[in-house]
Amino acid sequence: MSDPSTMEAAPRVFIRTFGCQMNVYDTGKMRAQLAARGFRSVDEMRQADLIIVNTCSIREKPENKLHSFLGDALSHKRRSGSPVTVAVAGCVAQQAGQTLLDRYPGLDMVFGPDAVPRLGELLDTRTDARSGGQTLDVRFLDAEDYVFSHELDPDAARRVGAFVTIQKGCDNKCTFCIVPATRGAELSRPSAQILDEVRALVERGVREITLIGQNVNSYGLKTLGELTFAQLLYEVCGVPGVERVRYTTSHPRDMGPDVVAAYAELPNLTSHLHLPVQSGSDRVLRRMKRFYTRERYRELVARLRAARPGLALSTDIIVGFPGETDEDFEETMSLLEELRFSSSFSFKFSPRPGTPALRLIAREGDVPPAVAQERLMRYQARQREISLAHHSALIGREVEVLVEGPSRHDEGVICGRTSQFQMINFPGSLELVGRTCRVRVTRAFANSLRGTFCDELRKI
Ligand code: 5AD
Ligand code: SF4
Repeated sequence: MSDPSTMEAAPRVFIRTFGCQMNVYDTGKMRAQLAARGFRSVDEMRQADLIIVNTCSIREKPENKLHSFLGDALSHKRRSGSPVTVAVAGCVAQQAGQTLLDRYPGLDMVFGPDAVPRLGELLDTRTDARSGGQTLDVRFLDAEDYVFSHELDPDAARRVGAFVTIQKGCDNKCTFCIVPATRGAELSRPSAQILDEVRALVERGVREITLIGQNVNSYGLKTLGELTFAQLLYEVCGVPGVERVRYTTSHPRDMGPDVVAAYAELPNLTSHLHLPVQSGSDRVLRRMKRFYTRERYRELVARLRAARPGLALSTDIIVGFPGETDEDFEETMSLLEELRFSSSFSFKFSPRPGTPALRLIAREGDVPPAVAQERLMRYQARQREISLAHHSALIGREVEVLVEGPSRHDEGVICGRTSQFQMINFPGSLELVGRTCRVRVTRAFANSLRGTFCDELRKI
């Protein structure tokens, strides 16, 4: 039992996370280190002694969110009667570094993704030095020096599904992408550590593991004696108590036949795969330096669907890449028609500082923003129709659902996901959280399903 007087005295942290699953995971690792140092998480920035914003620079929009957030955080710091520390973490921190500290004199700390496992030490150094100075840590560590944190995210351990990182960084050089500059070289996490974390999470009640990395298919290839990604999948799926395994993100070029075969052999590998294609046009793919063609992508999908009938495929799409013509864009639309993605994350190309695509703008010309916007709208509208059609086809059928928690919308309604990653809401008891049930689908929307409970499946 916690003593309320100690609870009052405990320092309080507020963390805001922007961006991808890697940032969500990094935030969890920060929380774990802070909890070990007595910090309590709060939901309101105004209550916090330490404010951290974990940033994303993948496109211009998420980057802009940082500046409005920082404005609020620093004005809270100025007005607060007690000392408040404000820190910027993540990809913008890595890229902007000292520039951020110069621009915001009230900012206390800036640290990049490689410093996340050392956040505790960084804070201890500040306290020991009792300095009001600014702390900067944006070093990329060598493979020998980098240590993946092993502390469990206190929140993840309470949820049904949890992320587990299997690698950091990315060695690809997709011309639009800033990630290699912000997260550095690819490094695979030792498989023994990954399996330890999976076991520890399962012991705390986690049922679904999502393995995460920028390019999971190249896992282990550069480390002598390490498992391949396919072998890792077999190991993780084999951990007792692991009900479902997902992973993200895959690069189509690196997805080998052994991973395709895993879909035929591993029942707890889910029937959903996120496989970013980016464009349906070979010309554009070449200029993006993706190293596959539309045809190769189609063949890969055909093999995956043969190995796992009913596999739901989602993707990432960029429209308006420099020099993208109407014909190129039509190729993307026709790929959507042909492969019928279950859903897409689709974006307008956003020029990022230091990326090779900037040179392409000079050479190939920019796609006018209004044209890119129109293409995006058209793509998204068609994707919504296709998502709705996939969902509508399930009406009247029974689906297996891993229950995640209460629905955000209605009292007495719970929600979970199918193996194909469809979100379904249905009336039911919270006692079902963490269990797998059969649910009959009654209604379909573009982003979710509605259903009624049939019975519980006891698999574990
Ligand atoms: N502009 C637009 N979208 C981008 N992505 C990455 N970089 C950019 C960019 N510069 C998208 C890609 C990637 C996803 C995570 O974000 O589709 O797969
Ligand atoms: Fe960026 Fe390409 Fe690496 Fe993905 S694979 S993180 S898009 S460089």
